[in-house]
Amino acid sequence: MFMLADAPSSAFAFEPSDSPIPAAERSRQLANPGFGRVFTDHMALIRFSRDKGWHDARITARRPLQMEAASSVLHYAQEIFEGMKAYSRPDGGVSLFRPDANARRFNQSARRMAMPDLPEELFLESIRALVRSEKDWIPDGDEGALYLRPFMFSSEVFLGVKPADEYLYAVIASSVGPYFRGEAPAISLWVTRDYIRAAPGGTGAAKCGGNYAASLVAQAEAIRNGCDQVVFLDAIERRWIEELGGMNIFFVFDDGSLQTPPLGGTILAGITRDSIIRLARDMGVTVREEPYSIEQWQADATSGRLTEAFACGTAAVVTAIGSVRGADGGFTIGGQSTGPLTQRLRNALVDIQRGRAPDPHGWVEQVA
Ligand code: PLP
Ligand code: COI
Repeated sequence: MFMLADAPSSAFAFEPSDSPIPAAERSRQLANPGFGRVFTDHMALIRFSRDKGWHDARITARRPLQMEAASSVLHYAQEIFEGMKAYSRPDGGVSLFRPDANARRFNQSARRMAMPDLPEELFLESIRALVRSEKDWIPDGDEGALYLRPFMFSSEVFLGVKPADEYLYAVIASSVGPYFRGEAPAISLWVTRDYIRAAPGGTGAAKCGGNYAASLVAQAEAIRNGCDQVVFLDAIERRWIEELGGMNIFFVFDDGSLQTPPLGGTILAGITRDSIIRLARDMGVTVREEPYSIEQWQADATSGRLTEAFACGTAAVVTAIGSVRGADGGFTIGGQSTGPLTQRLRNALVDIQRGRAPDPHGWVEQVA
């Protein structure tokens, strides 16, 4: 049924844009891209229907998608996505970081949302083909990258509540700089008590749009209170730290050890999180995947037992957390700047991603 299953690049028809953005305008946009505002000329598209399987794979001009008002995604939010980056290498090439892990997680999300699997090789080829056609859109500089956003949604025109029979998979590419643009050397977090992100049996471990929709009211509360990101607690006891709206979290202790909340179905299994755990263990750092409560965090930050904390994810990379606030007060962490272990781990990760250091785990795939 999956007719493109063993997809070579040639599985993707290439339809070049007849109005690409001129090079001078592209350079202007790349000078200060921000995050998620600058988009490239092309996108990848693949269609799925129950009778044809995956078909009609193409790299085509980026343009608005036409949809029927009754397309089921607009009503029941059957949608998933991924986030990954392509990096310029010192040798002039372009590489991806652990794209196979994104392909796997995409299918885990698909299964949770009753959507068809996309053969991993087809996912990977869509990314490779798009990166090759859009490689001139990677901004220069230490934090510049081409952010890739693969996504899939139900496109069937039908209002019954059931898994759809038709889907569209697409990849768009955005030239990005750092996710956080504030002047502060570390971000501030808001602990929400009124809202939860995910509950056992829910969709917390899937990268589905609905999780982010549900997080926005809490993120807006964070911003109203002058904080950069919201931190979510568990749904049952409302005390165990889970993750931030769009990134995982790590804690560093004065004995040099590292801790992060365990994956248990309510947290997104971050690829950055997994990479940090492995790099830290390579360095001989003790890493615990164990629950940590908000009360203990405050006590440890105040006593000095906790020395650093950081957020991590594809968009955020590794970003120090400087302060934490909530309705009943707040506390600061270490020197409210990037601590030594945070910096070491960030450098180790970024140097591998950007081809500046050896790649002992085989995480990097050069695509151009
Ligand atoms: N948690 C959430 C809710 C996210 O949106 C992300 C970003 O993708 C992450 C964690 C980090 O995942 P990754 O490191 O795979 O980007
Ligand atoms: C990513 O890091 O790729 C995400 O999807 C998170 C979002 C905050 C952009």
